[in-house]
Amino acid sequence: MKEKRNVYVTRLLHPPVMERLKEICNYEVNPEDRPLSREELLRNVKGRDAVLCFLHDQIDAEVLEAAGPQCKIFANGAVGYNNIDLAEAEKRGIWVSNTPDVLTDATADLAWALLFDAARRVSEGDRLVRKGEEFEWAPNFMLGVDITGRTLGVLGAGRIGSNFARKSQGFGMKVLYSNRRPSPSFEAETGARYVDRETLLRESDFISIHVPLTPETHHMIGPKELAMMKETAVLINTSRGPVINEKALAHALKTGQIRAAGLDVYENEPEVEPELLSLDNVVMTPHIGSATLDTRINIGLLAVRNIEAALNGETPPNLVVK
Ligand code: GLV
Repeated sequence: MKEKRNVYVTRLLHPPVMERLKEICNYEVNPEDRPLSREELLRNVKGRDAVLCFLHDQIDAEVLEAAGPQCKIFANGAVGYNNIDLAEAEKRGIWVSNTPDVLTDATADLAWALLFDAARRVSEGDRLVRKGEEFEWAPNFMLGVDITGRTLGVLGAGRIGSNFARKSQGFGMKVLYSNRRPSPSFEAETGARYVDRETLLRESDFISIHVPLTPETHHMIGPKELAMMKETAVLINTSRGPVINEKALAHALKTGQIRAAGLDVYENEPEVEPELLSLDNVVMTPHIGSATLDTRINIGLLAVRNIEAALNGETPPNLVVK
């Protein structure tokens, strides 16, 4: 019988994932329900044939070097892989994979949850009710903004952006999108119109960000872009925090330059720009875009599938390359 390979898993995952892993390899797992420290990560990747890691693990040259030349793959349990230095991995002949598709619905759904909440002040209302504050119906009490029939701007026409846009159809929204290049399939699915970023920022009532974090998208939304948006605009981000200049966003929200925001990701995660915490017109969730049980199981199973392929010498199905 072929000797079972030696895999390290940086977070304890759900039973179906651990069972599947057991079938294909010998594994060791971080037993604590917390990310590994840098030292623990460096120590634990040593001599492994594969590593199943997550977005809080910084996989750079030092970690890849520590893993050693026998290592076949770092399988990231996320669709984003900005935590991994692809060039360094490639240099060492180590494969990197991600987990697309399985978290598309969950992440797009959370973007909608934030959009509804920010537009209709759901969390703000919840806080008010819980505080036991007296309230009564009044013509101007807690007015939000309409969603149905409004213009939705989608930045990034990948899987999650398309899914998010498709879901707007029940609300009869007009969809604008910008992307590195036009996407005929996105247009066919959503009836969206391809526009440049400036037009999207100027014309949209709701703007949702679905781009990967790269040097090009870092601070894609800053003071200049916020100034282009409507005063009634609502900005949603479920991609990566550094895509937005968070200080500039806090300023825009505080001064009424834009109406509201819904954020699941932060520039210096898990820290949040302190000014945002005092504002009622921002809804914030703690990076839970893919956080449903089924989705998390499917993420784990897909990462394991990539590891299995790599251990068999086959190109992993979700290989990412620079
Ligand atoms: C989560 O943030 C992911 O990239 O999957």
